Amino acid sequence: MTRPDPSPLAAHWTLDREVTFLNHGAFGACPREVLALQSEIRARMERDPIDFMVRALEPLLDEARVRLAGFLHGDPDDLAFVDNATAGANTVLRSLELHPGDELLTTDHGYNACLNALDAVAGRSGARVVIARVPFPLRGPEEISDAVLGAVTARTRLVLLDHVTSATGVVFPIESLIPVLQARGIDVLVDGAHAPGMLPVDLRALGAAYYTGNCHKWLCAPKGAGFLHVRRDRQAGLRPLVISHGANSTRTDRSRFRLEFDWTGTRDFSAFLCIGAALDLVGGLVPGGWEEVRRRNHALACRARALICEALGVAPPCPDSMLGSLAAVELPRHPRWPPGARDADPLMGMLFARYQIEVPIYGWPAPDRRWIRVSPHLHNSEPQYRFLSDALREAMA
Ligand SMILES: Cc1ncc(COP(=O)(O)O)c(C=O)c1O
Repeated sequence: MTRPDPSPLAAHWTLDREVTFLNHGAFGACPREVLALQSEIRARMERDPIDFMVRALEPLLDEARVRLAGFLHGDPDDLAFVDNATAGANTVLRSLELHPGDELLTTDHGYNACLNALDAVAGRSGARVVIARVPFPLRGPEEISDAVLGAVTARTRLVLLDHVTSATGVVFPIESLIPVLQARGIDVLVDGAHAPGMLPVDLRALGAAYYTGNCHKWLCAPKGAGFLHVRRDRQAGLRPLVISHGANSTRTDRSRFRLEFDWTGTRDFSAFLCIGAALDLVGGLVPGGWEEVRRRNHALACRARALICEALGVAPPCPDSMLGSLAAVELPRHPRWPPGARDADPLMGMLFARYQIEVPIYGWPAPDRRWIRVSPHLHNSEPQYRFLSDALREAMA
């Protein structure tokens, strides 16, 4: 089998041409032009760190927040930059004042790091983490809503909902769940790690108390460009993970939320300052802009999933309409490929060693149920997924 070419658009990325890179979903991949801008920003910072940090930075961050807020239909003053979605979720959870018996609700499709954050904050206050069991395979979004709403009790304080799940690649019906939960007095924290750039996101219309996401995944910004959107009426109760000068600043031209989140100590801010360039560049690679980026990626994810299902002789675990551009397929059990240690699956290792295919294989919800996940972006091509399906067919023969 010869390695197929990626999409011609892959020329915009620095991805290794010796590798069939099918895991955009893990950490994203940043185009070379955006990386060049990041280098320029860093060079400018190092030419005069005082001028950069003290005079230039604030307006540059303001501009970056305006760009991101425009893309996500939110108010820039309700957006804070954080390193990543894990930090965004931790920021909210650690700000909650919980009491013994309070319940934090999430689902078994949630991201392990965020489940750990829930456990950590619940553990120190006597609160309880409740995990709603969402079936998978799924027939439709109602099964998700029923599972979540069926687990709500009078003690539920907050619900953490994934917008797009990591392990199962499902788009949760947050548009309908958020108003129902919040009408019952329960705040919703959305883990939107994957959503910006994959799905249209309208923060204002969603109205969630908290929404955190990443720009380094589907928007293709440099790594470390996360954000947290906090509804105005929840900002007073929210503190950043790092308390710095903003806490006692005497400035009155900005909210305490802005002052606290915009400076959390000396750091490299360049990833945030490249968000606008990533929006322009990636949105400009196809004639229909971001809408077409999303449409193409969704279509390729569905096609890739169909190819894998055919190669493995299995049915897709949910309708195409429940996908964005992440899709998971359960691997049939095979004596040659027993489950491996976490993050070291033997089949995943073989696909990389023999074919240089970079694709994630992992156990969920337990190591014995194993999944393969595709997450195409513009640099990928359909022949790459045919190559993967052929390799899987060979491996599972
Ligand atoms: C659903 C979900 N939440 C949170 C994260 C964490 O993202 P980060 O490592 O950028 O914090 C991921 C990463 O893949 C994810 O899939």
